[in-house]
Amino acid sequence: MLIGGWLRSMERVDQTSQEVATANARNERLARELASTQADYHAVTERLRRQVDELQEAKWALSDANTALESRVARRTAALALANKSLSEAVQELQQAQDELVRKEKLAGLGSLVAGVAHELNTPIGTALTVSTSLCHEARQIKRHVEEGVLTRSALMHYVSDSEEMGDMVERNLRMAAEIIGHFKQMAVDQTSENRRQFVLSDVVSDTLFALSPRLRRSGHLVELALDNGICLDSYPGAISQVLSNLIINALIHAFDTRAQGHMQLHSHLTDDGQGVEIVFRDDGVGISPANQKRVFDPFFTTRLGQGGTGLGMHLVYNLVTSVLGGKIRLHSTPGMGTEICLSLPLVAPHPA
Ligand SMILES: Nc1ncnc2c1ncn2[C@@H]1O[C@H](COP(=O)(O)OP(=O)(O)OP(=O)(O)O)[C@@H](O)[C@H]1O
Ligand SMILES: [Mg+2]
Repeated sequence: MLIGGWLRSMERVDQTSQEVATANARNERLARELASTQADYHAVTERLRRQVDELQEAKWALSDANTALESRVARRTAALALANKSLSEAVQELQQAQDELVRKEKLAGLGSLVAGVAHELNTPIGTALTVSTSLCHEARQIKRHVEEGVLTRSALMHYVSDSEEMGDMVERNLRMAAEIIGHFKQMAVDQTSENRRQFVLSDVVSDTLFALSPRLRRSGHLVELALDNGICLDSYPGAISQVLSNLIINALIHAFDTRAQGHMQLHSHLTDDGQGVEIVFRDDGVGISPANQKRVFDPFFTTRLGQGGTGLGMHLVYNLVTSVLGGKIRLHSTPGMGTEICLSLPLVAPHPA
């Protein structure tokens, strides 16, 4: 009984010491796990701290980069504004130079008109001068005959009929000269002041051809006209005349370079709606290559650089047609077959704004 009790106690002691050993082992494991968790925690904390440091550094670097970028953008913007300013000044200077050249071209047109008129005046004034000189000579002879008392009736009759005839001739020639001067005066006024008025288109065409007639005669080329006579415009005759002169002179210079007898045609008719006029100028010359056709209206485009061509003629034509006259211009050309230029103009030109 005693031994049984002792054995049971020993069993319990044994069991308890086993339990203590198990608990100890668990405690040791827990302590190890705790130590490892602690080490992990420290490592994570350390990593986080490093990352926070790195992020902070990155933030500073970003802010530095931002500041540098901002100052670079500001510098670039200032440089760009400066470049822009000098570019717009250059454009303005170019515009002024172009206007000046266009003005000179207009004056050159007037100069050649003056030369043409002077040439035209030569014939009637020269004839009138010759005839009046011989009339004076005859008058002096008659006076001498009277003084010497040798004047015969037949000599007197001869003188009278001669002086009548010569007087007529002088009058006719001076009238012609006056007419030329009248044409010139109108054209000069039209060309210089860009005068707007009502006029008959065919009158302006014939005035223009008249001013160009010495040059046309010398060239041996012909202009054939087919004009609607009744077309009346309220527009700028000087501009129309200048456009037509440029087209004709271009044909003489460029189209018929090597051709002995070139043909030009100038047609005009009212548009279907009755509000405008189409003027078509054609030559049967060398034509213009497709590549050059795109550049004909560009300022300074010329195939005669260094041979008197400035390349402003067609640019001026384009400006006059589209801005002053309020119309449109089209060019068709087939190399070797000639060139056609078609102007569509309103009968009433726009009023300047
Ligand atoms: N009727 C034409 N036939 C052939 N080529 C032409 C004709 N009209 C113009 N061209 C071409 O177009 C170019 C430009 O003409 P534009 O009148 O502008 O200048 P330009 O006659 O050369 O010089 P400028 O008229 O200033 O003295 C000419 O150089 C020429 O090559
Ligand atoms: Mg020209």
